[in-house]
Amino acid sequence: MKVTAKAPANIAFIKYWGKTNEKLRLPENDSLAMTLDQTYTTTTVEFSDKLKQDRVFIDGSETTGEEKQRVVKQLNLIRPKASLGWLATVVSLNNFPKASGLASSASGLAALTIAASAAAGLKLNQKELGRLARLGSGSACRSIPGGYVYWQKGQSDQDSYAYTLYNADYWDLVDLTVVVTKEQKKISSTEGHSLTKTNPFSQARQEAVRDNLKEIKKAFKTKDFTLLGQVIESECLNLHSVMLTSKPALIYWESLTLEIIHKAIQWRQEGLESYFTIDAGPQVHLICQGKNSLGLKNKLKSVRGILDIITNRPSQGARIIDRHLF
Ligand code: PMV
Repeated sequence: MKVTAKAPANIAFIKYWGKTNEKLRLPENDSLAMTLDQTYTTTTVEFSDKLKQDRVFIDGSETTGEEKQRVVKQLNLIRPKASLGWLATVVSLNNFPKASGLASSASGLAALTIAASAAAGLKLNQKELGRLARLGSGSACRSIPGGYVYWQKGQSDQDSYAYTLYNADYWDLVDLTVVVTKEQKKISSTEGHSLTKTNPFSQARQEAVRDNLKEIKKAFKTKDFTLLGQVIESECLNLHSVMLTSKPALIYWESLTLEIIHKAIQWRQEGLESYFTIDAGPQVHLICQGKNSLGLKNKLKSVRGILDIITNRPSQGARIIDRHLF
């Protein structure tokens, strides 16, 4: 059977960086993210007894090496659950540049997990799918449920999963995703996570995360946008301080990244309220309230060098769709 799934990327307001268990991808801390309705991956999977090897096509070309291995590894988690020995054809399409810090591994592994499990004949619930997706890429578990999602770190494979904290329509927030470069990053986040083990500031980060989690829950409950934004920015800067002091240092920002940060602060002082956050890459996410998104987008259009601005609202969760890619 051929099955196609669509999964949104997500932007973390409280970040996941560092693992307590590498293999199971159990995170150091809980995290909280907004799913993104205009930044997504679509993946079609079909198992067949005719294939001599798994074949994986991403964004129009057949993949080999590490990229393919990551997909095959995920298929190898799913096949035994369904007692299936057949190999698969996987065709996947991102509607945004992959591996450039725009969470393509999150949406990619989420879409792959849903499509492959269903194509293998498994009937898994959202929690089971999330746990499986997490084994492929930690943040992928936050791309399975919809809206604003919370990943409880848990202590084992069983209880480390994400769920919807608030539905997509709870709060009209917009993430203007500013694409600064389409180049692929040199150090993957998987590699980056492992560097936290030797980072002198890791413990201080965990203390900050505890406070940030408390404050952000308060901000969501009372819909206090200013408090939300302050937590988001401080969390982002905290994460990047750890990245910058890793050995080797992870310097993900480009000069345009920094320019947009300064502009956002300036526009805010002038009354246009938005707050920045950045994942493991140079792209900037400006979080604003729906009423300000057009004004902010117009301001951004005046900044030279920006390649694209994607207007993202909270998305519905990952799901099976009818339109196959092959
Ligand atoms: O799931 P990974 O290994 O791609 O790690 C994601 C790491 C960050 O994007 C920097 C933070 C996060 O919580 O998404």
